[in-house]
Amino acid sequence: MAAPHSSRTEDWWRDAVIYQVYPRSFADGDGDGTGDLAGVRARLPYLAELGVDAVWFTPWYLSPLVDGGYDVADYRTIDPTFGTLAEAEKLIAEARGLGVRVIVDIVPNHVSDQHAWFRAALDAGPGSAERELFHFRPGRGEHGELPPNDWPSQFSGRTWTRVEDGEWYLHLFTPEQPDLNWAHPAVRREHEEVLRFWFERGVAGVRIDSAALLAKDPALADFEEGVDPHPYIDQDELHDIYRSWRAIADEYGGVFVGEVWLPDSERFARYLRPDELHTAFNFNFLSCPWDPDRLRRTIDDTLAEHAPVGAPATWVLCNHDVTRTVTRYGRTDTGFDFATKTYGTPTDLGLGTRRARAAALLTLALPGSVYVYQGEELGLPEAEIPLDRIQDPMHARSGGTDPGRDGCRVPLPWSAEAPWYGFGATTEPWLPQPGDWAEYAVDRQDTDPDSMLALYREALLVRRTGAGFGDGPLSWLPAPDGVLAFTRTDGLVCVVNLAATPADLPPHGELLLASGALDADGRLPSDTAVWLRS
Ligand code: GLC
Repeated sequence: MAAPHSSRTEDWWRDAVIYQVYPRSFADGDGDGTGDLAGVRARLPYLAELGVDAVWFTPWYLSPLVDGGYDVADYRTIDPTFGTLAEAEKLIAEARGLGVRVIVDIVPNHVSDQHAWFRAALDAGPGSAERELFHFRPGRGEHGELPPNDWPSQFSGRTWTRVEDGEWYLHLFTPEQPDLNWAHPAVRREHEEVLRFWFERGVAGVRIDSAALLAKDPALADFEEGVDPHPYIDQDELHDIYRSWRAIADEYGGVFVGEVWLPDSERFARYLRPDELHTAFNFNFLSCPWDPDRLRRTIDDTLAEHAPVGAPATWVLCNHDVTRTVTRYGRTDTGFDFATKTYGTPTDLGLGTRRARAAALLTLALPGSVYVYQGEELGLPEAEIPLDRIQDPMHARSGGTDPGRDGCRVPLPWSAEAPWYGFGATTEPWLPQPGDWAEYAVDRQDTDPDSMLALYREALLVRRTGAGFGDGPLSWLPAPDGVLAFTRTDGLVCVVNLAATPADLPPHGELLLASGALDADGRLPSDTAVWLRS
C-alpha cells in the first residue's frame, strides 16, 4: 500500500488529488441497494492505495433524496439510508488515519421542503417571520395567479410554486428545494454554525454547492437577457458572506472549494481572493473539447485568472452532474454542455478511453489540484438508463427531453463475478448497472498493468513522490501542430499528442509514465500522453 501522506503541510490543498464520492453509488455496506457510509469505510484502503489526498462526499445529510441529497432536511443528521453521525465521525477519523482528508458538501442556496424551517414557514402563513427565511411573494395577475417574476430555472421548468394560501415561493431548482433568503441574518448565522459543526468533527474542507447563486436581487426583478448584474447569479453581496465563512475556516485550518460556474474569468477570480474561497472548480476546463488549441487556451486563461489572486487552479474532467469522460471524448462533439445533452449519441469508447488516459496525465501534470470522480479511475462509461428507471429530476422537469444525470451515477463495479458486480447489494441497486460492466470491475483491473486503474495508481504515485508536480510554474515548449508540450520545475515535461499522426518526443533522460505504448520508432501516438524527466 502507498505510504500515507499525512506529513503534508497545511497547504496540502494547493496540489491535492481529491476523490469525489457519491455515497449512494460507491459501495453498499448493508445490502439494501443503496451505497452507504459502511460501504465507504470498508473501501477506505482502496482510496488510500489509489493515493488520493482527500475525499469529497456529496451530501450525506437527512434528505428525501429528491435531488440526490442536494435537498437537505437537516445538516446535523446523516440520512438513515447512509448511516449515522457516529459512523460519519468514525469514517472521518479512519480516513485521516490513512492519510486521507474528508471534505463535506454544504448546500447553502436552498434546503429541502421537509426542512423544519420550511415546514414552519408553510404553517405560519403570509407575513410571518418564518416566511422571511425564504422568498415568499404574492403572485402577479388579477388574482395572483401568475408567478412573481420570470426567472429561468437552473433545471428546466418554473422557479416559483404556489402554496395553498395563495403565496408563491422561489426555487431555482425543484419545488422540493426552496431557496433561502440570504439577506436574513438567521440564514447566515445558521450556516456559520453548520460549518463549525462539521469542522469540529474533523473535516478538512467544505465544497460549496451552487456558490454563486445565494444572493438575489432584493427587488426580484424580471430577468433581462444581457443585463448586468444578473438577478441571481454572482451578486456582489456574496463576497461578504464568503469572507465571514473564510474567517471560520481559518480558525480550524479548513478549506473551501466553490461550485462557481462563471464564464467571466475576472468575476470568477473575485471568489478566490485571499480572504474568500481557497479554490473553485474549473468548469471551463471540464467543458472544453478535446482540441489542442482550445485546451491550451483554457489552460492559459485558467492560470492567468488565478495568478493575480494567488489561488491554485483546479482541474476537473467530470463529476456527478456531467457526462463521463470516456464517453464524451469518444463523440464527435467532445465538449460538455447541459443544453445539448441527449439520448444515444454515438460514441467510440476505445477512442474516448485513449483520450481519457491521456487527459489524466495532462491534468495531473498541470499546476494546482485535481479532482477524480468515482469510477473515473476505472474508465467507466456513461450508462444509458432505461427511461422508467431515471430518478434525476432534471429528466422529468425537461419533459423527458434531457436524459438527466443518472448515467454517471450508476453503482460502482467492484468484482466482475459477484452479484451486482460486488457493489454490496443483496437486492437490485437503486440504478441499474449495464450488463457489460464486468471488464470495468476493480478486481479485474487490479492485476492488469494496462488498466485505467493501474494508470491512475501509478500516476498518483509518481506525482506524489516525484518533483515538479502540483503548485508552481508552467512553460510551454515548442511542439508540432496539435501537440501540447510543457515543462514544470525539476526537468518535468508533459507531452500530449492530439494530432492525427505520431509525434517525436523531445530529448529526455527518463520516461516516467505513458498513457499508452509508444510506436516502434519511439514516437508518441495520437491521443497519447507522456511524462518525461529531462
Ligand atoms: C449543484 C449540484 C447538483 C445539484 C444542484 C442543486 O449543481 O452539483 O447535483 O442538483 O447543485 O443543489
